[in-house]
Amino acid sequence: MTDTDSSTTTAKAPTRRALLGWGGAGLALGAAAAGGTVAMSRAGGDVDPAAAESGAAVEFHGAHQAGIATPVQDRLHFASFDVTTRDRAAFVQMLKDWTEAARRMTAGKPVGEGAYGGPAEAPPDDTGEALGLKPSRLTLTIGFGPSLFEKYGEAFGIEGKRPAALVDLPKFPGDNLDKNRSGGDLCVQACADDPQVAVHAIRNLARIGFGKVAIRWSQLGFGKTSSTTPEAQTPRNLMGFKDGTRNIAGTDTARLKKFVWVDDKDGPAWMTGGSYLVARRIRMNIETWDRTSLQEQEDVFGRTKGTGAPIGKAHEHDEPFLKAMKPDAHVRLAHPDSNGGITILRRGYSFTDGTDGLGRLDAGLFFLAYQRDPRKGFIPLQRRLAAHDALNEYIQHVGSAIFAIPPGVRDARDWWGRTLFSEEA
Ligand code: HEM
Repeated sequence: MTDTDSSTTTAKAPTRRALLGWGGAGLALGAAAAGGTVAMSRAGGDVDPAAAESGAAVEFHGAHQAGIATPVQDRLHFASFDVTTRDRAAFVQMLKDWTEAARRMTAGKPVGEGAYGGPAEAPPDDTGEALGLKPSRLTLTIGFGPSLFEKYGEAFGIEGKRPAALVDLPKFPGDNLDKNRSGGDLCVQACADDPQVAVHAIRNLARIGFGKVAIRWSQLGFGKTSSTTPEAQTPRNLMGFKDGTRNIAGTDTARLKKFVWVDDKDGPAWMTGGSYLVARRIRMNIETWDRTSLQEQEDVFGRTKGTGAPIGKAHEHDEPFLKAMKPDAHVRLAHPDSNGGITILRRGYSFTDGTDGLGRLDAGLFFLAYQRDPRKGFIPLQRRLAAHDALNEYIQHVGSAIFAIPPGVRDARDWWGRTLFSEEA
């Protein structure tokens, strides 16, 4: 019997969902369906080489949420949601239901009682398009936006719990933000090696959330543009350059602790083990870039296009000699040595959303950066880049959001957001 087959067996008890509710049914069925053939790897922050195995499952539980230090998967579906209820109990129940669904989907199992075999008069619990597909290293990572605290602080009893580090991002020079592609009360980042698995996950969470949350915007991504696995070949972005050469490795626990995970001394307590995510939809002026000389392209980044070596050096992983680069080169400006040591974990994806009606590709980089405190990470770094980066001639930031990423779900009884919504820390 395969993992997906388990839904057929369990779905023979049609009244179960009604009796147990989402969370209860999920727990019972999760236990029943355990023991599949899926190769489990450890969760975020503690990387197992098996996690890079094609088709494997990434462990959902852990001190940190998976999808941050996890080796970067090939595909992304990122969704930002707005809350549509003021009912705290209903919202908390949705978070519990989401957790149970995420637990199952990341293990390659269908949601609830599955996609078929249940009562004919009700829509199936699972939408079905991931049946028969492998877990594909699916990770689901949840975050809470500043507007959740602003708009629902009182209704949800989380007034005063907004972390000081969850600031509203300032306007940077050159920003041309579309509000319909910015902000959000909460987010879910779905990463997987199979796009259908990532899309299925977001679709099913949105479906479970109906009446409590609605998708505000979402972004599909492909061709990861950063690597958290040093030994893997560095991927290239849509400008044709290797991207992610110098990044925090998922195995580098010391740098993750220093730059990515919120420490218990940072506060608030509910964020310990969490992180902060800045998402930016950065459009590339591809047509202009493609008419730019190779020399100019390499000057813009401060690295060579072929090997990705820093200007003046021979190999990709050679230590950059910043003074050999133009003063406005992207790498020179973004390097920690030019910024008092600022270091972020980049986990972005390329996107191409067709054309813009003027015959230009709507393509670019969906930039995702994780850090311990955005006031000491993305914000000062982007201030510098927005003011001086030679790359600015070829890009435009058109979407923006920031989220507090709570710590990991500890075990089968824990749920997304528990540290924020329950009194127990
Ligand atoms: C479309 C926009 C962008 C493109 C195409 C791009 C591309 C690149 C490339 C090709 C590299 C060199 C390879 C590497 O070390 O990864 C790089 C490095 C880097 N980028 Fe970007 N980047 C973009 C936006 C940003 C933004 C918005 C930030 C932060 C605010 C950023 C921060 C960095 C950092 C920290 C490095 C590593 C510098 C080092 O340590 O040497 N990038 N980027």
